[in-house]
Amino acid sequence: MRTRLIAGNWKMHKTATEAVEFVYEFRKVVPISPTIDILLAPPFVSLYAVQQAMTTDDRFALAAQNLHWEAEGAFTGEISGAMLQALGCSSVIVGHSERRQLFSESNEEVNKKVKAALKHKLLPIVCVGETLEEREAGHTQAIVKDQLIKGLSGLDVENISTITIAYEPVWAIGTGRAATVEQAEEVHAFLRSIVTSEWGSVAQDVRIVYGGSVSPQNAEALFHCTDIDGALVGKACLDPTSFASICRLAAQASY
Ligand code: 13P
Repeated sequence: MRTRLIAGNWKMHKTATEAVEFVYEFRKVVPISPTIDILLAPPFVSLYAVQQAMTTDDRFALAAQNLHWEAEGAFTGEISGAMLQALGCSSVIVGHSERRQLFSESNEEVNKKVKAALKHKLLPIVCVGETLEEREAGHTQAIVKDQLIKGLSGLDVENISTITIAYEPVWAIGTGRAATVEQAEEVHAFLRSIVTSEWGSVAQDVRIVYGGSVSPQNAEALFHCTDIDGALVGKACLDPTSFASICRLAAQASY
């Protein structure tokens, strides 16, 4: 059975000092559970501070929000997978819709980033999701399939088993309007069917997490779905108590 993943994407929030305060507070309330993995994804400039504030028995690990596909070079303002690995990151978010929409990231770039992450032993959390217009036009499946196939192009079965897919409908991000359980489960099951048709039974090992206005109020129902293996949380992860509540609900939920 898959281990659920709850990842907190802090986006561009909190200074390094605030990040460390979060770690101290979060440690007091985070549940102890072998059935979930928990990730904190602070901004790049807080990764070192969070890593230093973490202890060896912490129940959460460190993730980054993005990476460049080259290991080093003349890429002003960019951060490489090698650097993230050296800082103690275990995972990295790739192809978040804000990167795709605001920074014009393409499926081809997402693919290069996924490969760079794997090369540096970072587990990629690959985001896919449709806009409201695409959903209303009936294109949801075509869009997420295209993002998935192109984003994961060239990966073998062994690599696929380490990937987490995040389904984040763009219309649900930061809007307070989460997808319904039925809408989310339908797309998650579809994504798993695509992984099965492309890579076979390894699809059963691939985590598919939901993101988009996840809160302590709506998380439980999502976690009871067969194909929803956790959450990528934005706003609700900024408060240690509410993020810990979501983690606790994930730890308690049965598939
Ligand atoms: P919100 O939870 O704020 O909607 O953000 C979701 C998200 O984009 C996580 O990556």
